[in-house]
Amino acid sequence: MQTVILAAGQGTRMRPLTESVAKPMLPVADCPLVGHTADAAVDAGASELIVVVGYEAEDVREFFGAEYRGVPVTFTEQEHQRGTADAVRAAQPNLSGPFAVLNGDNLYEPADIEALFEAGPSIGAIRVDDPTSYGVLSTEDGRVTDIVEKPSDPPSNLANAGAYVFPPDAAESLNVEESERGEYELTDVVARTIEAASVTPVELGQWLDVGRPWELLEANEWKLDELDRSVRGDVAASAEIRGPVVVEEGATVESGVVIEGPALLREGATVGPNAYVRGRTLLGPDTKVGHGVEVKNSVLMTGAHVPHLSYVGDSVLGRHVNFGAGTNVANLRHDDEPVEMTVKGDRVSTERRKFGVVAGDNAKTAINTTLNAGVKLAAGATTTPGETVLRDR
Ligand code: UTP
Repeated sequence: MQTVILAAGQGTRMRPLTESVAKPMLPVADCPLVGHTADAAVDAGASELIVVVGYEAEDVREFFGAEYRGVPVTFTEQEHQRGTADAVRAAQPNLSGPFAVLNGDNLYEPADIEALFEAGPSIGAIRVDDPTSYGVLSTEDGRVTDIVEKPSDPPSNLANAGAYVFPPDAAESLNVEESERGEYELTDVVARTIEAASVTPVELGQWLDVGRPWELLEANEWKLDELDRSVRGDVAASAEIRGPVVVEEGATVESGVVIEGPALLREGATVGPNAYVRGRTLLGPDTKVGHGVEVKNSVLMTGAHVPHLSYVGDSVLGRHVNFGAGTNVANLRHDDEPVEMTVKGDRVSTERRKFGVVAGDNAKTAINTTLNAGVKLAAGATTTPGETVLRDR
C-alpha cells in the first residue's frame, strides 16, 4: 500500500518549539515524531512512503533518506501550507491504486494501521468521551455514512483519527472547496469518498494527535513506556539506575545519581554528580543535568542544560536551552485545577494536573529564576536574576 505521510505543516499551535523545526521532527523517545508514524506504516506493510514536506523540509528529507527501513521513500513538496487536502494533492502525481494517508504528527499502534490497510477503503476512528472538538463519524451496518467537524450535538463518540485508506479514484477528487478557516481539508475529501464508496470504520486501540506542547510530553510518555532497560553508557558505581532506563553509549551518569525509569539518556547526555531523574524523562543528545538538579517527566532536547541546583518537572526544553543556577519550575496549581497555557492567543486547559513550562530553542534563564506552571519562553528569550516569570515571553 502506498502511504502518504503528511509532514508539511507549520505546527503553529506547537510554538515556540516549532519556530525553526517541523513539528514531525520534534523528538519522541528515540526518534522524531514522524519516525513513529512511519514505523507504524512500515510494520503494517507499506510498499512506499510518500512524504509530503514543506515547512522546514530539509530535516525531514534528511531523516528519511531514499529508503526507510527497506521501504522506498518519495518526497513531494507542498509549496504553501494550505491544508491537508492540498498536501495530499501534492502527492497525487505519485499515486497509483488505493493509497493510505497518515498524519505525520500522530502516534498509532502498528497493529491498528495493519487492520486499517486490510479493511480499505477505511477510516481510523477512536472512541472519545467528548467528541465535540473532533471530526465525528456516523456509522451504519459497518460502514461510515457521514463525517461532521466539531459538532455541538455529536452523532456518535467515534472521532476521526487522521488515518485513511482511499480507493484509487479518490486521487481525482482532491479539489475540494476552501473551508471556513481558509484551508483545503482532507475531511471534505473523506465526505466525498463516503458518498461514492463503502468506507469501513476501523476502531484504533491507542492514538495520539500531537498538536500542542503538552501533547509532545504525552507522546514521550507513551513511547518511553515501551523502553526495555539497556545500559551501555558510562555509569559510576555509586549511581543507582532503577527500572527501564536506557543509557546510550556515549552518555555519562556520575556518582550519587538516581535515575528511575522509564528514562532515556541519549548519546552525549551527562547527569550528575548528585542528581535525580525520574518519571518518563528524555534527556536528548548532549544534554546536561548537573549537581543538585531534579528532573521529572520532562523532555530536554539536544544540547539543553540544567547544570546546577534546579527543579524541572513536566516540562519541555528546546534545543540548547540553558537554565541558570537555581532556576525552578512550578508544575502544579494550589487549587489543583488543570494547568492552562496560551495557544495562539487563547487560554487552553492542558487537562493535566501537572504541567510545567515550555522553553523555545536557545532560551536562557538567569540565576534563581522561578517559572510558573504553563509559562512559555520564546526561542532565545532571557530572564533577569531572581525573576519570577508569571506570563509568556
Ligand atoms: P495539523 O492540522 O496539525 O496542522 O496537520 P499543522 O500545520 O501541523 O499544525 P497547526 O494547526 O498549525 O498547529 C496535521 C498533519 O498534516 C500536515 C501536518 O504536517 C501534520 O502532520 N499538514 C498540515 C500538511 O502537510 N500540510 C498542511 O498544509 C497542513
